Order: sequence, then structure tokens, then C-alpha cells
Amino acid sequence: MKQEGFYKLSIKDRQKLLTDEFNFSKEEIQTLGNSLPIETADKMAENVVGTFSLPYGLAMNFKINGEEKIVPMATEEPSVIAAASNAAKLCLPEGFKASASLPIMIGQIQVIKLNDANFALKTLLKEKKHLLEIANSRDSTLVKLGGGAKDLQGKVLETKRGKMLSLQVLVDCRDAMGANAVNTICELLSPEIEKITGGKVRLRIISNLAIHRTVKVTAVWKKELLSEPTIEAILDSHEFALNDVFRATTNNKGVMNGISAVCLATGNDTRALEAGAHSYASYKNNGKYLPLANYSKNKSGDLVGELEMPLAVGIVGGATKTHPLAKLSLKILQVKSAVELAQIMTCVGLANNFAAIRALSTEGIQRGHMELHARNIAVAAGAKGAQIDQVANKMVLEKNIRLERAKEMLNKK
Ligand code: MEV
Repeated sequence: MKQEGFYKLSIKDRQKLLTDEFNFSKEEIQTLGNSLPIETADKMAENVVGTFSLPYGLAMNFKINGEEKIVPMATEEPSVIAAASNAAKLCLPEGFKASASLPIMIGQIQVIKLNDANFALKTLLKEKKHLLEIANSRDSTLVKLGGGAKDLQGKVLETKRGKMLSLQVLVDCRDAMGANAVNTICELLSPEIEKITGGKVRLRIISNLAIHRTVKVTAVWKKELLSEPTIEAILDSHEFALNDVFRATTNNKGVMNGISAVCLATGNDTRALEAGAHSYASYKNNGKYLPLANYSKNKSGDLVGELEMPLAVGIVGGATKTHPLAKLSLKILQVKSAVELAQIMTCVGLANNFAAIRALSTEGIQRGHMELHARNIAVAAGAKGAQIDQVANKMVLEKNIRLERAKEMLNKK
């Protein structure tokens, strides 16, 4: 698909390019304008009285492990899609390199009211094989696909309310996000755990701190394209985030701008990813909250960006299959596995983080924001086609971005 200048096309022309490229059916094309029928929404949540739409756009220029990708993003924030596309373009022709672990999630089981917690844990671990058999006795499809419960671990917690066990069932969730599979397994195991220990099982739930389901991506931004002063400025900004938790938090919000937008566009659980990402930002650094991505210079003086983080997303189950636009997103992304989707999302996260700190380290983010804001104001004032950029550019030059001014300009034309 022609990606150069995509942003200059009309919405209709963009939709046409997209539908030609991916061979969309009539129904699928309609989905782009009316994404969620209210009847479907009514099955997804409770007390439904309407649906809520967001801008849905395509990030361009992504090349990941040698493969070109067009990435759908749903976001209310101006600049995010443009910033991701621009950052991806700047690391071409190599693009991003990505790798990932197996899709293993943690299910937690809390056991209380034990006579001897240490002995109970030892006994349970001796029965691991038997317990894993029970865990895998329900979901034969997952097991047939190579997934299912793979390991059982645990520790004794010394708490104000006495000793308790924190058990962890490690479940390979294959192409699912896994919450359902993991929670089912935890509940399935509980009666046997109570029988073996004589204790009482309380919580049985997935953990969103998915330390065994991580993605690692890297990209190199050449010094010829960025300039040495810009690279130095980016490294200064990174150092700021490494040494100040207030900056690190906002820095990581920039990573999630990209990740959450793809997460939403594919019908995945944004809260699960956000919780896991921020928690991991301190978990992996012995409790110190740090930037998720890392930046350094290579021998040639180019900027190397690296991002390693947990990313639990699925391409089967949940809204990924019930939301028509989420289904369309997966078609555009052409992913064959949840791991591949996670890799793409992490690349977008690195791209957005890079774009944000590059802008912040140099001219600041307000100019880019203001240009987009000016376009929105021009549209709101009634500008059409080429008028939009003309009016927007003039308002930016005048540093006077107001609806009244845009209307004034349009009346004069
Ligand atoms: C705004 O949505 C995101 C940024 O604040 C990220 C950052 O500060 O790195 C620009």
C-alpha cells in the first residue's frame, strides 16, 4: 500500500487504499464508519445505552524483523499516530528488531489458615505433576495447541494476618490473552489444594505482572538523520528519567500512548497492559521505578533504543473477536500469533517514546500539537480540502489558533 503522503489524502481516498490493499468486504468497509453495532455492544457490557467512538488511524512506515506493517491505532490524543509513523520512518531501512518469550501468564492462588505453611508448600510442590494434570484436564483445545499449565511455584508470605501461601501456576496461553484460561485453572485447582494442605483457598486470579511473557525490541536511529546534538539531547533526557521518578512516569506514559492505542484498536485489555507495564518498570529494577525503554549510543555514534516489557495480548477470545473493528485491525496487521501482535505493539511503544523525547529534547512538543490543533480548528470552522492546511498554517504562523480567526479567514476567501 502506498504509505508516502497518506496523511494528505481525504478520508475516502485513505479508506479506498486500505480496502483495495486488504480486500475488505462491503460489511467490513462499513465497519470503518460505524464500528460497533449497539446490539453487539449490549452483549459486551451491561446497562448499555449507546457506544463511544474514538479516532481510528493507521501508523505507517513500520518495518519489523524485515516485514512491513501498517498499524491501526485508536486514540483520542492528537500527534500520537503521526509521531509513531515519523519515528518508524526515521529508523528505516532497517526498522525494528523484535523477539519475545513464550506467552506464559501467572495465575495466583492464595492459601490461608495453614497449620504449617512451609510444610504445606513442600507437600504441594511434591504433588506438582498431579496438580498440573488437574489444571490441564478442562481446556483440551489449549493443551492440544501446546499450551496449558506448565509449572507450579510458590512462596510463604509472612503477613500481619499470619503466614499464607502465594502459589503461582504458570500457564502457556498461546494466542489468548489468557485471563479466562488462567482464572479457570486456578479455580479448578483449589479444591485439591485445600484437600492436600488442609488450608483455605481465598483468591484465585491471574497476575497482570506478566514477567514470563515479555517482548524485547530495538531500533537504531542513525546520527546522519538525527544529528549529534539531537542524540546528545535525547541522552540527557533519558538520564533525567533515570534519576527522577516524576519524569520516568511521564516518559513511560509516552510508551503507553502507542501501546494502548494499538491495544484498543485490537480489542485487547488496556488496563491489564498498563498495570503490567508500570509495575514492571519497578519490578525489574529491584523496586526502583525507571524508564521502560533504554537509550545509548553505538560505536558509530547512532542512537540505539531498546524496550523490554511484559505484553499480554490475544488474537482470540474477548473483544478481539466480538468487536468488528478489532477484527478488521487484526486483518490489517496480518498477524499469525499473539506473540507477533505483542512484538508490533512494543515497537509502536518504542517509536512513540522516541518521538516524544526527541521532540521534548529539541523544539518541545507544543509546535507539533499546535499544528494538529490548528487543523482541527480549521475543520471545525468549516474548511474543506486544501483550505484546511491553508487556514491551519496561517493560524500557526500568526500564533493565533482560534475558531473565530479560522472563521474570519474562511469568510475572506
Ligand atoms: C504526552 O501524551 C506524552 C509525553 O508527555 C511523553 C513524555 O513526556 O515523554 C509527551
